[in-house]
Amino acid sequence: MRKELKISAIRNGTVIDHITSGMALKVLHILGLDEDPPTSTVSVIMHVPSRVHSFKDIVKIEDRELKKQELNRIALLSPHATINIIRDGEVAEKHHVRPPREVVDLASCENPNCITNSREPVSTRFKVIRKEPMVLKCVYCGREQDVCVERL
Ligand code: CTP
Ligand code: ZN
Repeated sequence: MRKELKISAIRNGTVIDHITSGMALKVLHILGLDEDPPTSTVSVIMHVPSRVHSFKDIVKIEDRELKKQELNRIALLSPHATINIIRDGEVAEKHHVRPPREVVDLASCENPNCITNSREPVSTRFKVIRKEPMVLKCVYCGREQDVCVERL
């Protein structure tokens, strides 16, 4: 069977592969790549048949090597994603995402009385207390919660 590329290979940049199907746009959001004005050329491929899980999404970011710390935020939505750093048209590095120990300024706390939900300008901060499925514990009020994609 001929392997067809729906979106061409990139010369330099970052390819996030094996994203849980349906999560590509959330991945762009948590990486801040959906900001206006845009900063990079980004290709998004959704619902691609995959060998490992039945379908996956792929995000290709040209001419930018994202930092490990930024990329580990992806583990919240997509624990099986792989990060490929492309240099000169070749995969120069391949990493699996790793759940961060802390999640800062990304999820919001479910506790309506938490200080992060008041008018105080406090960033949210959670410890990751379980990895799969991921459970977060608010550093301020101690509330434990699952990662809820709608709240990211
Ligand atoms: N890729 C790309 N541009 C390149 C090289 C690779 O866009 N110049 C993409 C591929 O399309 C693929 C990902 O980067 O989505 C990883 O490439 P590669 O390691 O060659 O693919 P696989 O061996 O299939 O990866 P894995 O084993 O991680 O599934
Ligand atoms: Zn809280």
